[in-house]
Amino acid sequence: MKLLKSSPQNIKIAAALIKAGGTVAFPTETVYGLGADGFNPAACARIFEIKGRPRFDPLILHAASLKQALRLFRRVPAPALRLMKKFWPGPLTLVLPKSAAVPDIVTAGLATVAVRVPANPAALALIKAAGRPIAAPSANKFGRLSPTTAAHVKKQLASGPDMILDGGKTAIGVESTIVTFCKGHPVLLRPGGLPLEELEKVSGRTSLARSPDSNAPAAPGCLKKHYAPAVRLKIISPGQAVNAGRSAAYLAFSDAPAGKFRAVETLSCRGDLREAAAGLFSALHRLENSGAKIIYAEKVPPHGLGRAIMDRLRRASA
Ligand code: TXA
Ligand code: MG
Repeated sequence: MKLLKSSPQNIKIAAALIKAGGTVAFPTETVYGLGADGFNPAACARIFEIKGRPRFDPLILHAASLKQALRLFRRVPAPALRLMKKFWPGPLTLVLPKSAAVPDIVTAGLATVAVRVPANPAALALIKAAGRPIAAPSANKFGRLSPTTAAHVKKQLASGPDMILDGGKTAIGVESTIVTFCKGHPVLLRPGGLPLEELEKVSGRTSLARSPDSNAPAAPGCLKKHYAPAVRLKIISPGQAVNAGRSAAYLAFSDAPAGKFRAVETLSCRGDLREAAAGLFSALHRLENSGAKIIYAEKVPPHGLGRAIMDRLRRASA
């Protein structure tokens, strides 16, 4: 496995690997993806193997343009098209009826497909050079923390992909917001990098597919336990008294905790939710590596990107 900077030359090599049925981990603006040719079922099967991901959990197809994305859908309701035009490229995934071009392994047999156009120059250049949509889940082992750096990918998938394209730290840091339409009405399947407030400015009132604690996933991959570090995580209120000491780590939102902990990470001293989201998974990776037996994670304000952060913390703690 090669780890290479995302230079134009290396993007060409990566695209050739994709065309030849290989797998490449690459940066997007949300998290790193583990990519393969979205029209090649055998290549997509490798993704499931490398991740240890169950086959019932469908993949997202990444397109380089609206035009390329539209060919993957059978039908696009007008309000969905408005969202695509407004937010692509960007951290929004749309789930709509699939066209015949999409192989069943990508959708895990569902009649719908998840598609997005990522806002990352290396990702867009790779998809363009490959000349086909790239199927890519987050480049982590199934159920574990998502990667926001190439080093995170290497740590979890050391001997997996044929190549890792290193494009530095991802800008947004949490996965895309996933939206579907039910009888013409928008439904949120996963809170993510596009805040619900921004989405609703265009889509109008958007219903939530499930209660955050429900174990019945609306998106098949939205299992209650997911995005989890290898150690126990407990959600607490800011300032709540906890057992400090060498075996505990602490994830603070804006103010460092009082007690002495094995490791402490503060997401944003300014209390900025964008900054907090961008650093969330990196902070969790470091706390996971610290050797602590438990991570105490403070609640963050549940609006804007705070909704996606709380969703990931709840799943990590399940
Ligand atoms: O930001 C992101 O979305 C990242 C980057 C790499 O693009 N990708 C990502 O993929 O988070 P993944 O596979 O880790 O999460 C995709 C989620 C899964 O929970 C899956 O179940 C859901 O999307 N999904 C995919 N296709 C679906 C479909 N047809 N219907 C409902 N949910 C679907
Ligand atoms: Mg994932």
